[in-house]
Amino acid sequence: MKVCVIGQGYVGLTISAFASAENQVIGFDSNKVIVDQLNQGISHIEGISSSSIQEAIKRGTYKASFNPQDIASSEVVVIAVPTPLTLERKPDLKFIESACRSIAENLTSPALIINESTSFPGTLRNLIKPLIDKLSPRALDHFYAISPERVDPGRTDWDQTNTPRLFAGLTREATDRTKNFYSSFCNNLIEVSSPEVAEAAKLFENTFRQVNIALVNEFAQISHALGIPVTETLDAANTKPYGFMKFTPSAGVGGHCIPVDPTYLAYLAAEKGVPATFIERANEVNLEMPRYVVSRVKADNGGSLEGKKVQVIGVSYKPNVADVRETPAALVIKELKLFGAEVTWHDDLVKEWRGESSSKLGGSEISIVVTRHQILGDKEILDSASYVFDTTGTVDGATKL
Ligand SMILES: NC(=O)c1ccc[n+]([C@@H]2O[C@H](COP(=O)([O-])OP(=O)(O)OC[C@H]3O[C@@H](n4cnc5c(N)ncnc54)[C@H](O)[C@@H]3O)[C@@H](O)[C@H]2O)c1
Repeated sequence: MKVCVIGQGYVGLTISAFASAENQVIGFDSNKVIVDQLNQGISHIEGISSSSIQEAIKRGTYKASFNPQDIASSEVVVIAVPTPLTLERKPDLKFIESACRSIAENLTSPALIINESTSFPGTLRNLIKPLIDKLSPRALDHFYAISPERVDPGRTDWDQTNTPRLFAGLTREATDRTKNFYSSFCNNLIEVSSPEVAEAAKLFENTFRQVNIALVNEFAQISHALGIPVTETLDAANTKPYGFMKFTPSAGVGGHCIPVDPTYLAYLAAEKGVPATFIERANEVNLEMPRYVVSRVKADNGGSLEGKKVQVIGVSYKPNVADVRETPAALVIKELKLFGAEVTWHDDLVKEWRGESSSKLGGSEISIVVTRHQILGDKEILDSASYVFDTTGTVDGATKL
């Protein structure tokens, strides 16, 4: 099949890499730098190797493009563009809208259009389809479907072939075509009764994580106040073979999904006049964690951080990836500076961030581990400062959250 994937980021490039094994894929992106890099065979995301891009280019089954006219004769178009929040923390669908414009203006024959971007229920039916139909200069009967993405960048045990994939079309024909497309690289397809079920399931999956992360973060604070080690307590609770799922405390949540997706659900709930209290409270608890972390470090260091050299270790939002979107490390650093600390950061994967370079590990009085990449051993971390505060619960011998 001739496939065009709109957006070549974490989701779009992953789909392109898997789909190009059996299909002809154009990876369309509005960022020319990314397109040029990809056409040189350089991958910019974890989990998709440069060699796999090079092989697909060599086979002639993958090409990145900056030219919307390359969408023209696609049989399948996959939308994988960002769905962030506006400054007022409302759903920002401008990238989906601009993708719809490119699709509408350039498709020359009926195609299957699948949205993989995360958004609230009704986005496919009430926004994507009407917009493409309205903006299209030709009267084309496209097929519309949704298949929310579940990729976990950096993860190898669950990938596009075995992660169960939800899907549903607006019509029977759209659903069948969607199944046919994903069967070319995914062997675990789950049809649901409507696009809205798939859209809502995706939001609930991430809301479930957000709320449970907040719960365990609050529990960590309670445990500390009670003088009970939270890591051991959670391990103990986790011996229950049913009815319990272990989440671990942290400096907060980051990335494009957990801090954002639940707010899409809360937005829709508010529109319907239904409270989304768990989502709102979980947001508050998670956003409060950096302040709590710094208060603990301050208390352990004579009650003042004024003029103290502090190094934040790991500034990406999760282990083993270089993604710094919405990272809680930013809030930890901000809080440390408010208390007069001299802050540096070290991250072997991020290297450059906010115009600064990663500093050499060590050389400070205090280290705070916000994110733990596999490449850093316990000893290197413990040797980095005389006091090491570990928010990840993984550094043996450090002061734990
Ligand atoms: N990153 C994840 O782990 C993950 C997991 C599941 C779902 N999602 C969802 O998938 C969607 C995409 O996320 P991502 O992480 O891949 O984003 P990303 O920022 O990594 O990549 C998006 C790409 O789309 C491009 N783009 C934006 N507007 C465009 C347009 N109109 N035309 C062409 N290209 C355009 C950008 O230049 C960028 O390269 C979001 O809705 C996100 O919530 C992400």
